[in-house]
Amino acid sequence: MARTFGPAFSWGVATAAFQIEGASHTDGRTDSIWDHFARIPGAVVNGDTGEIADDHYHRYPADVALMKELGVDTYRFSTSWARVRPDGGDLNPAGVAFYDRLVDELLAAGISPWLTLYHWDLPQALEERGGWRHRDTAFLFAEYAMDMHAALGDRVSSWTTLNEPWCSAFLGYAGGQHAPGVTDDAGALRALHHLLLGHGHAITALREADAELDLGITLNFSRYAPLDPASEADRDTVRRLEDGMYGCFTGPIFSGAYPQTFLDDVAEIWPADLVQPGDLDVIAAPIDVLGVNYYNSWVIAAPDGSGTVSPSGASADEGVSPWLTARESRWIPTQAPRTEMDWENHPGAFRDLLVELDREVTGPAGTHLVITENGAAYPDDVLVDGAVLDLDRITYLREHVAAVHEAIEAGADVRGYLLWTLLDNFEWAYGYGKTFGIVHVDRDTMERTPKASARWYSSLMHSHRLEA
Ligand code: NOJ
Repeated sequence: MARTFGPAFSWGVATAAFQIEGASHTDGRTDSIWDHFARIPGAVVNGDTGEIADDHYHRYPADVALMKELGVDTYRFSTSWARVRPDGGDLNPAGVAFYDRLVDELLAAGISPWLTLYHWDLPQALEERGGWRHRDTAFLFAEYAMDMHAALGDRVSSWTTLNEPWCSAFLGYAGGQHAPGVTDDAGALRALHHLLLGHGHAITALREADAELDLGITLNFSRYAPLDPASEADRDTVRRLEDGMYGCFTGPIFSGAYPQTFLDDVAEIWPADLVQPGDLDVIAAPIDVLGVNYYNSWVIAAPDGSGTVSPSGASADEGVSPWLTARESRWIPTQAPRTEMDWENHPGAFRDLLVELDREVTGPAGTHLVITENGAAYPDDVLVDGAVLDLDRITYLREHVAAVHEAIEAGADVRGYLLWTLLDNFEWAYGYGKTFGIVHVDRDTMERTPKASARWYSSLMHSHRLEA
């Protein structure tokens, strides 16, 4: 059976500045928290860094040409705060100029730019002043957003404030697996609130500057199914886990309040002075689009004292998980296929998640959904005549795109699918060892070779038809 998507549905790919640009100290760019973190022995697998990454900073014309050839109509990328405002200080025209060139190149290729302002790379100098734990960072973020708008607002209409702020707050400041590598539970809650506040101020300022922009935020979602749907304890655990993973974002953004279960769970460490009068109104500024990053789903049970596993693969028993709901849940392995990240594939859960989000969260607010990331890492180690025949990835993508189609048929307002990712790149704490690209990058020569999945996706993007 073929599934056809409407002509207005956007197809594309997503990347992030730190993961592909390289040129980490070129044209005035200074350290971000990820440059700093990657130098800490043991922080990133193999000691990998973002110094060169995919050298996209110098190779962007060829990368844009490749996207054009593949049939990409929307390209989601992020801008590097540390390039645009080195050390978080004054504007750096040479840094802004890179994005100017990139956007012009995209438009000339007929590709719509989709700009994410923050994909985890805070200027290190701001971290040294408290980073996201400090309230000022929220205001500095809104200023930086307006710099980008002043430079690119005439050519870019899709703007995302933050990418997966859950990771920034909780992996960055509580678990410590991500930069800045801090383990401070209350600090993570401060980061959570200040990220949201920065989002709200940036949305308000961008909206004031141009009411026509498409504004939003991207959150990471998984669907959690209770092991025993008849068990109130399992169902309650799932609800609390959802609130700790994304309700603590969707609550303030769409309803102007943190979920009560979340506040109850973190009550002992919630800083009393954190939420100031008016903050929640700012955070609840209406948005046009909720970006959904989706990779996996899990079966969850109430705690029974045995070991639990957090989504990052680390044992929550080791205290890496500060959000109490995750600490107190059991992640039950199933027989579903797993990717190289050890993440479970449940495309049906993806469909259900989208339908539920649309019905309960975004639909009532008049906000639509776009899949801002979906994709999979596989070993990709066998090259046949120089190419990667990544049939596992094609299967993953086919099943997940079909799930998006099913969600649309069930009434969900999903308007685009941006695959993660164009190029194999710096997979954060995993370094270059985990590859999500549909295009292989030779780490020595930087040569780009489309994998079988790129050809498969190209045909989908050209035809808007998914052949079963
Ligand atoms: C989500 C993040 O936004 C992206 O940077 C990362 O590479 C993918 N997940 C895969 O883990």
